[in-house]
Amino acid sequence: MSAPRGTEIEEKHGGSVSISLYKTGFMLEKIMKKFADLDVKGKTVVIRQDLNVPMKNGVITNDKRIRAALPTVKMALEKGAGVILLSHLGRPTEGEYAEEFSLKPVAAAISDALQIPVSVAGKIEDCKVKPGECMLLENIRFFKGEKKNDPSLAERLAALGDVYVMDAFGTAHRAQASTEGAVRKAKVACAGPLMVNEVEAFSKVLSSPKRPMAAIIGGAKVSTKLGVLTNLLEKVDILIVGGGIANTFLAARGVAVGKSLCEPDLLEDARKILDLAKAKNVQMPLPVDVVTAKEFAAGQSPRTVDVNAIPADEMILDIGPKTEKTYADVLASAETVVWNGPMGAFEIEPFHKGTVALAEALAASKAFVVVGGGDSVACVEKYNLASKMGYISTGGGASLELLEGKVLPAIAALEDRS
Ligand code: 3PG
Repeated sequence: MSAPRGTEIEEKHGGSVSISLYKTGFMLEKIMKKFADLDVKGKTVVIRQDLNVPMKNGVITNDKRIRAALPTVKMALEKGAGVILLSHLGRPTEGEYAEEFSLKPVAAAISDALQIPVSVAGKIEDCKVKPGECMLLENIRFFKGEKKNDPSLAERLAALGDVYVMDAFGTAHRAQASTEGAVRKAKVACAGPLMVNEVEAFSKVLSSPKRPMAAIIGGAKVSTKLGVLTNLLEKVDILIVGGGIANTFLAARGVAVGKSLCEPDLLEDARKILDLAKAKNVQMPLPVDVVTAKEFAAGQSPRTVDVNAIPADEMILDIGPKTEKTYADVLASAETVVWNGPMGAFEIEPFHKGTVALAEALAASKAFVVVGGGDSVACVEKYNLASKMGYISTGGGASLELLEGKVLPAIAALEDRS
């Protein structure tokens, strides 16, 4: 595939990656130009990354996204380019600078990792680099027009360099100036290696998975995951739900769930999903035992009970050991698994156990496992199981939208520019 006419960027190889993502009822064939295949010696490369890392008092509490972004920056520098990095951080009020949302700590972390100075520009026009240099533009959400995908902002960002690299998979579900608009406006736009890895991992799971295929979806509410569950039922052989979602499914089966988080308005939808699973021959095991307590708080006395004996004044906070075993047994046959969301109140001990048991079962399995979402990723990292998974995604909301069968605007733009 050749570069757009009028540019001096050359591609060494084919320059594209063919992926296909599943969308309900049909396949989406997507082709993206790859940054890895471009010759950018002496050029300026603008890379949109997702450096939206958690911070407390200006200190980065989890640098996974920075570590995931670094290989792309190194690749650009090794190719002899100058690098301008763009990212958002948190959700500041657009048009206003706020120190707590500044990317300065992120720049310092990148500088430490690369062992070169990495400054932060407060203005777009101050972003200027020579080959071998790297700098960051301040939080792109400080700039008016980012969220609304303002074409003039997109144009100014795209004009910062010779090549625009979209590598922010975690933000690919946002149609914003730096994620979608600039990809369409740039002289040359391409996917960075992280984006390519993410898309290939999800493509492997969603387009032609080795079977049996399982999906494990946890989280508080069925209402936010209805689209995901419905789409996945078209796709999987095994569907396991966790957390508050499982409580609503138990209630739909007539289980008295006590004070548990549950959505009574969604019981009918849950029943329909259970019926659909049955009709499609999808295994959908629900908890047979659970761990309960009086409050959703630390320092509680946990109790393990059968699902038919949940005390009326207690709430479900985790799955029990019999359920852990059932899920491990069911998943032992799986060849492909996608996991997003915990089994219980993972953040409060001892209600983390069911999620850890599930992670251990997946780590021991032969399946290609893709893990996405904050708590699931935190679990595999905390218990040193990440290296035993097939792929750990940097995207929470973005990966869920893929599982829902949605087209991510940034990926669609990359495809259009290929
Ligand atoms: C995320 O953390 O999921 C991404 O960085 C996107 O952030 P946003 O939900 O604020 O757009």
